[in-house]
Amino acid sequence: MPRKKFVAGNWKMNMTSSEVAPYLEIFRRETEHVDTVDITLIPPFTALAKTSEILDGTQRIRLGAQNMSPELKGAYTGEISATMLRDLYVRFVLVGHSERRRLFGETDEIARRKIITALATEIRPILCIGETLEERQAGQENSVLEGQLQGALAGLTKDQLDEIIVAYEPVWAIGTGLNATPEQAQSAHRFIRDYLAKTWGTEVSSRSRILYGGSVTAENARKLLSQPDIDGALVGGASLDPRAFAEIVSAAVPAE
Ligand code: PGA
Repeated sequence: MPRKKFVAGNWKMNMTSSEVAPYLEIFRRETEHVDTVDITLIPPFTALAKTSEILDGTQRIRLGAQNMSPELKGAYTGEISATMLRDLYVRFVLVGHSERRRLFGETDEIARRKIITALATEIRPILCIGETLEERQAGQENSVLEGQLQGALAGLTKDQLDEIIVAYEPVWAIGTGLNATPEQAQSAHRFIRDYLAKTWGTEVSSRSRILYGGSVTAENARKLLSQPDIDGALVGGASLDPRAFAEIVSAAVPAE
């Protein structure tokens, strides 16, 4: 069975709750015909409730969160729990995003704890991994990816792995306009799939969806998405424009 493409828009710290309705009006119209791609919107926490309310349980466009506490409840001022997200029909959560790692000290161990909590709450983690420019220049990209996969996923069962989506996001390509070439991205995706196969078996790894993220645009999406091991895109900047994001979704529609 071919893997269904998955396209997610991470709005990061953009979009107020009142900007959601006009965005969705355009985005829903432009993607109305698409049912062969899994589409997920990842608003900031303050816009989740509004987005959830407008989507009103539609299966066609799903909801993700940008972050989540590894703890289930309690005295953690400023944190948001998995249960709170579930309550708003959130189905996915980003874990280990490079901005969380770099700016907020999220380690592989924290990513791992969030993954365990998310899985226990039936929220599917999107684990983000990727090397920095220095690491790539030193030829260390594969060992960095392997370390991040191992740090966040070691010990998970095959069933748990089936619920996880991995996003390869080279740090040097995020928000910089410098996207990885389709060949560079394909080679990293192949490496990730081989690691999953080695650890959990090929049955699981052949089902796993691996997304590419880092300066994906309406212009470069088609080439990236046509690589054999690229199963979708995690889009930041370009997802803020509903028309541009809809074009990226269209680029993921499989050819007849
Ligand atoms: P970008 O962000 O598309 O703006 O590069 C991607 C991401 O951080 O997921």
